[in-house]
Amino acid sequence: MAIVALTTDLFVFHVYYLRHNNLSDASLPVLAETLKEKIMDEKQAQFKSMTEATAEDWAIIGKHHGEFCLGLAKRLVEHLKMLDGDFGLSHSLQSASRAHRAGKDEEYVVCALLHDIGDTLGPFNHADMAATILQPFVSEKNHWIIKHHGIFQGYYFFHYLGLDRNARDVLIDHPYYQDCAEFCEEYDQNCFDSEYDSEPLSFFEPMVDRVFEKSKKSLYTKSENHV
Ligand SMILES: [Fe+2]
Repeated sequence: MAIVALTTDLFVFHVYYLRHNNLSDASLPVLAETLKEKIMDEKQAQFKSMTEATAEDWAIIGKHHGEFCLGLAKRLVEHLKMLDGDFGLSHSLQSASRAHRAGKDEEYVVCALLHDIGDTLGPFNHADMAATILQPFVSEKNHWIIKHHGIFQGYYFFHYLGLDRNARDVLIDHPYYQDCAEFCEEYDQNCFDSEYDSEPLSFFEPMVDRVFEKSKKSLYTKSENHV
């Protein structure tokens, strides 16, 4: 089997390396751990349908999925770059910069940075897309703000399209109504100023890393796996 052949080759190479460099065999336990890790890295789940999957299959998938999730922040930053042009990326940077300079916390600033990330794939419901991405990592309030910012933003232009600019008022009794109104007033409708001195994307990248480091809630977490 290819995996066995590969790991055998690695073992032979490492033993050769130890001997060649006059290292003691005491290094072998470390080598064994490295090999075990390597085997898990190379292994793939074997099932053709989920009904025949085993715990080992899911251990392999879980390991790879964990590593994949660690790259989420980087993928989001890369995707955000796709908004470049027609004010997209500069609008996002301006929104995040204004929020940061107003003293909003890191989570809020990252929400501001990503609030329009759904524009590329969800032009008809972009607010839902951003909210869905953010939901496992942010507070209920911040999630609500981003999820509903589309209809609140409509206050500033719906009437030019023959729509009701007060459409947001169907939510007027919600406890986060004013928070979302504030977001649009202070950090969205006013963020199309090409003269504004925004921070660069690199300034916000460490913040995105920290906010997306660990999910607060998820269907795949034990305490949350209910509907
Ligand atoms: Fe926006």
